[in-house]
Amino acid sequence: MEFRDLKKQYEILKPQIDKEILEVISSTHFISGPKIRKLEDTLAEYVGVKHCITCGNGTDAITMALMVWNIGPGDAVFVPDFTFFSSGECPAFVGATPFYVDVDEHTYNLDAVKLEETIKNVITEGKYIPKALVSVDLFGLPADYDAIKPICEKYGLLLLEDGAQGFGGDIKGKYACSFGDISTTSFFPAKPLGCYGDGGAIFTNNDKWADLIRSICVHGKDTSNPNDPNAKYDNIRLGMNSRLDTLQAAILMPKFEAFKNYEIDDVNRVASWYTDLLIDANFVLPMIKEGVNSSWAQYTIQLPKGINRKGLQEKMRSAGIPTMVYYAKPMHLQGAFTGTDSAVADCPVTERLCETVLSLPMHPYMEKEEVELVAKTLKENSV
Ligand SMILES: Cc1ncc(COP(=O)(O)O)c(C=O)c1O
Repeated sequence: MEFRDLKKQYEILKPQIDKEILEVISSTHFISGPKIRKLEDTLAEYVGVKHCITCGNGTDAITMALMVWNIGPGDAVFVPDFTFFSSGECPAFVGATPFYVDVDEHTYNLDAVKLEETIKNVITEGKYIPKALVSVDLFGLPADYDAIKPICEKYGLLLLEDGAQGFGGDIKGKYACSFGDISTTSFFPAKPLGCYGDGGAIFTNNDKWADLIRSICVHGKDTSNPNDPNAKYDNIRLGMNSRLDTLQAAILMPKFEAFKNYEIDDVNRVASWYTDLLIDANFVLPMIKEGVNSSWAQYTIQLPKGINRKGLQEKMRSAGIPTMVYYAKPMHLQGAFTGTDSAVADCPVTERLCETVLSLPMHPYMEKEEVELVAKTLKENSV
């Protein structure tokens, strides 16, 4: 059994994907061009924002958003403690100080009450200026924006939605990657919408920021005349080289059609099979609030305290079932932050989750029998 079965997906989408790849190769248009534009327009329309700018990966996407806002030394950026490293790495990389905030034990997303507490502490200490929040749509579930947005407004924080895992989720029909002042996503292969290498995108309704991002993506080029091929060599600011390859855009087009047309429904069906089969066992299951939909980047349960998680993973592996631990270490305890102000955090929920979470095989192409086998093996080996 595969943790995320990209081979099965490719077998089904092979004719369209192969055709798209061949088109790029025979056109020799490997960087930018109409396929990139088409993908950007398609994704912007789906998400419901004015601009989509594709880029090299989800980490660059977060970094460039922070660069556009001139976030740097002396600035405080709030980040959930339970997330992938990039969410906090990027603020630190641009020179700001990430402050880690505890998460809700049922949704795994940012706890809004803890957020306000942390902001107030930073203001009282007076060492840093609160500038932005990186909210994360963890495991496919959009964060609690009804609670988060008013706090950002109250304290004048810019909201950066890290939707690397959340693409395709929604709150009452409003899609992930539309909640931030700037939102970002990743097309890493195992993500809800993944390409065949690294890739990412940035979404915003702000024309000025979109223009700046288009410049920063290509070495700070002058974007005032988009049709001038020489503009790339007129560099009016410092930027980076972060473009989505045209081949990846070509692969993403048929994958996006499948994603939108049936994969999101199918992965939600798989999640409900898991929930039905595991509800009577001694696990904490992921909680999705009324009106919210997840794109199920992961199906992550909490094991009862005291269970030997490594031993259980070993037994599952012997039965041919891969499992993963997302995440084993809170952000504030990552070695990169040792001795910095980012290492000081009050996050007991994250610390407990890091000891008890287990992510199960999850993808839209899972059969009911596979889900049954996972649930049965899990129950048998965790008593
Ligand atoms: C929450 C989160 N943010 C950011 C990223 C970074 O994305 P990428 O790997 O495309 O740089 C990831 C990727 O795992 C992620 O899970």
